[in-house]
Amino acid sequence: MPLGKPTTASFVVVATVLLLLFNAAVVTPKSTIEPCSNNDSCNALLGYTLYTDLKVSELAALFQIDPIVLLSANSIDISYPDVESHILPSQLFLKIPIICSCVDGIRKSVATHYKTRPSDTLSNIADAVYGGLVSADQIKEANSISDPSVLDVGQNLVVPLPCTCFNGTDNFLPAIYMSYVVRPVDTLAGIAARYKTTTTDLMGVNALGNAAIEDGDILAIPLPACASNFPRSASDYALSVPNGGYAITADHCVECSCTAGSRLYCQPASLSVSCSSMQCKSSNLMLGNVTVQQSSAGCNVTSCGYGGFVNGTIITTLSSSLQPRCPGPQVVPPVTAPPTVVSPDMVLAPAPSPGQLGGSPMAGLPSSVVPSSGSSIVLPPAANGPSGSSINGACTLVNPLTTSFISIGLVLFLKVVKVVPFL
Ligand SMILES: *[C@@H]1O[C@H](CO)[C@@H](O)[C@H](O)[C@H]1NC(C)=O
Ligand SMILES: *[C@@H]1O[C@H](CO)[C@@H](O)[C@H](O)[C@H]1NC(C)=O
Ligand SMILES: *[C@@H]1O[C@H](CO)[C@@H](O)[C@H](O)[C@H]1NC(C)=O
Ligand SMILES: *[C@@H]1O[C@H](CO)[C@@H](O)[C@H](O)[C@H]1NC(C)=O
Ligand SMILES: *[C@@H]1O[C@H](CO)[C@@H](O)[C@H](O)[C@H]1NC(C)=O
Repeated sequence: MPLGKPTTASFVVVATVLLLLFNAAVVTPKSTIEPCSNNDSCNALLGYTLYTDLKVSELAALFQIDPIVLLSANSIDISYPDVESHILPSQLFLKIPIICSCVDGIRKSVATHYKTRPSDTLSNIADAVYGGLVSADQIKEANSISDPSVLDVGQNLVVPLPCTCFNGTDNFLPAIYMSYVVRPVDTLAGIAARYKTTTTDLMGVNALGNAAIEDGDILAIPLPACASNFPRSASDYALSVPNGGYAITADHCVECSCTAGSRLYCQPASLSVSCSSMQCKSSNLMLGNVTVQQSSAGCNVTSCGYGGFVNGTIITTLSSSLQPRCPGPQVVPPVTAPPTVVSPDMVLAPAPSPGQLGGSPMAGLPSSVVPSSGSSIVLPPAANGPSGSSINGACTLVNPLTTSFISIGLVLFLKVVKVVPFL
């Protein structure tokens, strides 16, 4: 048959194949994937709920990050006595700071490794230990595991974790992105309210066709941030701090905070460690000092700011500006003592479903949390859907690059489906 307008029959075949492909994607939780082409990296966050009581140092080790960096990212007082041995309570929600890179054309973090313990399964590593931020299939793939039922104890597994950079901006304003695993109680509006954004913005960022989200989906949530402008040679190049938060840098010497509406504010960190000079050249000002001088022309504000950590040296920058009014004293975000109990405002989901808590910490989540095949995009129920074939639906997308467009694609596709009588 010569090529030409497709017949209705061939169209139905194509549509059916497409539907099957889309179905395979739809029954699994969605994840926002950002294609990338350069190897720049950015700061990103993981929204993580502790699966068991963990020491600060143990939690940091789980993600191979610096415990002090972890505490600062959560505005927890790093000068608290013996803070690294402090035990954080199960079900506590924390932001885990990670470096988001570009790997095989998509944004992800591959710096985390997990050493398997007796009785580990890929599912419990993915769903319990890493809180659904990764799927069993993604671990399987990243480590070329042919038989997941045979895991050697002590095996060092790469744990690929989701992250996005989106150029460090959201609606042209500086932002840092947090990968967030949707819980059964979540709604998009609730998440938007909690993170002071809008459902429209979340839908735009995550390329969602509508506001319906499913348990286990991974959303990229933009958090307003203060961006730095350190030189590329700085080891903390592109440092970005979310509003109300802190970042510790320069070998624990400098702590930078971000107050709503203001610029990055850095000062000597409260830890007593040996640091290079933090005095601004040709002045008696120290990092973070701001002096004001009222004159008839206005207020001369001179400040000693931080310019990055270059070659083991803390770069300070002295700057003066004439402002109409003198600024008040610098206000930094409050820090808190390390939490020992999970208070309602720390837990994002008000009430974890019965059975989801307790039990052996290493036990996988009960099957009741396996996402149903219901999805935000309502497709005709497929008799052959592979739903529930793996706990928390491993992301087995044929082409990850297209993932973020699938929602849109489905919406468009459904418009087509409506006019094709089948199934
Ligand atoms: C990116 O990768 C290229 C080669 O793979 C390397 O030469 C370059 O230094 C990298 N750039 C950064 C910012 O890592
Ligand atoms: C990325 O953000 C910077 C400002 O931070 C802007 O100048 C640049 O145009 C943006 N690039 C893209 C590709 O959006
Ligand atoms: C300057 O900064 C140092 C270090 O933070 C602080 O101890 C000192 O009190 C500040 N001085 C003034 C005048 O603000
Ligand atoms: C502001 O004060 C600084 C130091 O106190 C001085 O060097 C600078 O010239 C002053 N700028 C103006 C515009 O007065
Ligand atoms: C860092 O220090 C080394 C040797 O001390 C020097 O060769 C190099 O140029 C320095 N790099 C920068 C960016 O200053």
